[in-house]
Amino acid sequence: MGSSNTIAVAAGKGGVLKTTLACHLAVAATAAHRRVLLVDLDPQGNTALDLGFASDGGRALAHALTNGDRPEPLCDIRTRLDVLPGGRDLDAAALTLTRSALDDGSLARVLSQLEDEYDFVIVDCPARELVLRRAALSAAAFVVVPSSSDLASYHGLADLAATISEVRRAGNDELDVLAVVAGPVPSNATGPRRRAIAELGRLIGDPTLLVNTTVRTSHLTAERCRAGGLTTAEYAARSHTPAAISLADDWAAITGEILGRHLAAIASNRSVNC
Ligand SMILES: Nc1ncnc2c1ncn2[C@@H]1O[C@H](COP(=O)(O)OP(=O)(O)OP(=O)(O)O)[C@@H](O)[C@H]1O
Ligand SMILES: [Mg+2]
Repeated sequence: MGSSNTIAVAAGKGGVLKTTLACHLAVAATAAHRRVLLVDLDPQGNTALDLGFASDGGRALAHALTNGDRPEPLCDIRTRLDVLPGGRDLDAAALTLTRSALDDGSLARVLSQLEDEYDFVIVDCPARELVLRRAALSAAAFVVVPSSSDLASYHGLADLAATISEVRRAGNDELDVLAVVAGPVPSNATGPRRRAIAELGRLIGDPTLLVNTTVRTSHLTAERCRAGGLTTAEYAARSHTPAAISLADDWAAITGEILGRHLAAIASNRSVNC
């Protein structure tokens, strides 16, 4: 069973804001005075761009996945936030892991050596690398899924749902989808946002999984945040641009709702187990 404080951010499609969401969720949890470990399980290693730190290219994490050693996270990337960076070394690690149930546990074994030090472990998953994605889902109790409302995203959701079912059957039977986040939505006008949400709710079959706030599209703000290694709130505090402030508000609402859902899920599990 996955650790209750481990949340995987996963989707069956590339470019749907997995990394952006994972970074914002991690920083939001630190603002709530939680100690957070962000694990970048993607050979692209984009958390280093989004949070502006020097990465080891995934070396420590890849070594731990293949040898079972305790990796040394990069400490204090933000207050209360440590990171295990991703990068190209994870490609080699994925090659050495097979898709057997035993190897699905590779990340869980690594994290079990670290999780006592953190209130949250948030895992940024790769888009298409199945071995690493399965390892992430096997280590997590919860999945958060960013998605657009187009046909490719629909296929991505179906693909992810199949992997979640496989991972449950392989032993992590309480793996739960905590939330689906819609975005970026092409306009901040009410009509298109509402239509996009309705469409995505229809696609996932359970509209209650959708968080209430969508991420509005703002290419320029996103580009500047990534170029500066800043979250939208950090960039908004420096730039004071309306687009950045609005986007920061979206992320504050989205991450707040996800953390609230996590608390509620943990509380209801506890009451079931009492
Ligand atoms: N609100 C936004 N509006 C428009 N573009 C955005 C927004 N937020 C982030 N982006 C941009 O969208 C792109 C994809 O985001 P991100 O890297 O988070 O997706 P991903 O799902 O992790 O991608 P990958 O599958 O490559 O790992 C990035 O260039 C990012 O800067
Ligand atoms: Mg990514």
